[in-house]
Amino acid sequence: MVKVLFVCLGNICRSPTAEGVFRKHIQINCLEDKIEIDSVGTGSWHVGNPPDTRSQEFAAQRGYDISNQRSRLINNLDVIESDYLLAMDTDNILTLQKLIPEEMQNKLFRFLEFAPHLNQLDVPDPYYSSPDGFDLVLDLIEDASEGLLMHIKNNDL
Ligand code: 4NP
Repeated sequence: MVKVLFVCLGNICRSPTAEGVFRKHIQINCLEDKIEIDSVGTGSWHVGNPPDTRSQEFAAQRGYDISNQRSRLINNLDVIESDYLLAMDTDNILTLQKLIPEEMQNKLFRFLEFAPHLNQLDVPDPYYSSPDGFDLVLDLIEDASEGLLMHIKNNDL
């Protein structure tokens, strides 16, 4: 089993969206028994809450149901068990670099590293943005999900 963990700050906007989009990719490719995914936050403000209603609505418009997810904080077991820890932005990866032991830093990526054609490494935090910000999050995440799946197929399966 390959374990993928999407990480953002609040675990109510970007990483739940990434989980929803990538889960659909996994289902379409019949890889549910080979790739396990989850999402977490590095901050605890929204623990136990469902994704932001705007994230739910914009995801639903593209056919992704993320309503059942609940925010949780990253823990030690997540770090130990995950094969890929995918940070949504530079702040997230800097936080993770401080949390994670040296020997596990090789699990750490920015999610958009899997979409190099975007020439962008951060999925911008949409929380205080206009609705356009939520659509941009989906555009970036859909691109990186394709790249990530190809990478895992080529390297891990
Ligand atoms: P996320 O967005 O990290 O993509 O879930 C945020 C959600 C909430 C907050 C910040 C970012 N907040 O400060 O409450």
